[in-house]
Amino acid sequence: MSGSKLLIADDERHIAEGLQMLLQEDGYEAETATDGEEAWKKVEGGDFGLVLADLKMPGIDGLELFARMRDAGIDSEVIFITGKGTVADAVEAMRRGAYDYLEKPLDLERLKALIPRALEKYQVRTANKQLQQRLENLTRFGDMLGQSEEMREIFSIIEKVAPSTASVLIVGESGTGKELVARALHQKSNRAKGPFIALNCGAFPREILENELFGHEKGAFTGAIAEKPGAFELADGGTLFLDEVAEMEADVQVKFLRALEQRAFRRLGGKKEIEVDIRVVAATNKDLKEALKDGHLREDLYHRLAVIEIELPPLRDRGGDVLLLAEEFLRRFAKEHGKDIKGFGEGAIEYLQTYSWPGNVRQLRNRIEKAVILARGDRIEASDLQQKTDLDEPDVHLQVGMSLQEAGRVLTLKTFAFTGGDYKKTATILGVDEKELRERMLSYVEDPVPASS
Ligand SMILES: Nc1ncnc2c1ncn2[C@@H]1O[C@H](COP(=O)(O)OP(=O)(O)OP(=O)(O)O)[C@@H](O)[C@H]1O
Ligand SMILES: [Mg+2]
Repeated sequence: MSGSKLLIADDERHIAEGLQMLLQEDGYEAETATDGEEAWKKVEGGDFGLVLADLKMPGIDGLELFARMRDAGIDSEVIFITGKGTVADAVEAMRRGAYDYLEKPLDLERLKALIPRALEKYQVRTANKQLQQRLENLTRFGDMLGQSEEMREIFSIIEKVAPSTASVLIVGESGTGKELVARALHQKSNRAKGPFIALNCGAFPREILENELFGHEKGAFTGAIAEKPGAFELADGGTLFLDEVAEMEADVQVKFLRALEQRAFRRLGGKKEIEVDIRVVAATNKDLKEALKDGHLREDLYHRLAVIEIELPPLRDRGGDVLLLAEEFLRRFAKEHGKDIKGFGEGAIEYLQTYSWPGNVRQLRNRIEKAVILARGDRIEASDLQQKTDLDEPDVHLQVGMSLQEAGRVLTLKTFAFTGGDYKKTATILGVDEKELRERMLSYVEDPVPASS
């Protein structure tokens, strides 16, 4: 059994070896070390459940050995053996978490009684840790958390399709974790060592998107003062992630489809055909059936991209995941903001479970961060989660003296926050098209986008 071995460290060899014999007679596996250095080497290399260590040893003494073990995360139990005049040190060692200490001359009966108890303590602790680790592994997949049936299904699909080069289309509402899925597909593939290049097709006007995708030669257009490789080239040997893929204009779609089929393309202004070895993963939060029907998305491109389609469920359909995620975000942000918060109050749990989370995991994450910052006690209460900042309020405060530009910014950002970060809904409410909205949002990036967006 692991963790049942003992180490006896004493610079008086006859004591170390005498104890070893005695313990071996009792059926224990025991090794010896006759100075601190040797003891440290052995402890580092082996799985000892218990270390019997003399406090006074040349070089590394018992206390230092103990400190090194704990620093290195080696948590074998330690019983100290003390000579005359070191009892104070032994008491100090106990205070730091040693199991016990024995004075010389050794009371062997007492030692024999202590050993099985110390070993058991170590073994129980180790078993608990392993169990916890195993539970943790069940709910964790790369950077993603999830224990719901729905998410486990997603994890198993990712595991299955990651090794192939087939294109994957990830669909799901805003904030459901599409980018995380794309990264997981990359990390679990045999291209993991290659680049992961992400490009948001919704973030650029047409000409720039083409340039970002394919790059250009020097002199391809005014301002092209040097050659520049595009995402296709940069992703060679790795994964190209195209976010908001339904936002691509028709003629870019044609070029893109061709490049995808041939795994080859030309830079803007270039004659040379460049071949690449890439895996394409695309994502969209749009209803693609609509985009296909009204001709916004080419059918042939869709089929090329959606060789495998992964549909990420909205957070409200993921059962217990809300609390699992909430606890993880709480731990993370409490640490980040240096706050000592132990958990959620009853009302907060109820709120977390009943709210519909239109902005999905991103919204949950932002809400928890805000609550952590606002919380006064050591628990997060419902009121911390519901706390309205001026961004959650549906009304905006406009004042004479504001420019139209500023008024537009406030209204746009607030509407965006109000919809839980949904571009489509925001665009509909504001009466602009989605492309224009995205361009506006980009122009606001100078001014930080509010945390609840
Ligand atoms: N299962 C998950 N476990 C932990 N964190 C998650 C999970 N899903 C999403 N997140 C976090 O939520 C945030 C949003 O995720 P992500 O950016 O991948 O969403 P998205 O679907 O790409 O959103 P959008 O459509 O707006 O681009 C990120 O901070 C991400 O780390
Ligand atoms: Mg995304």
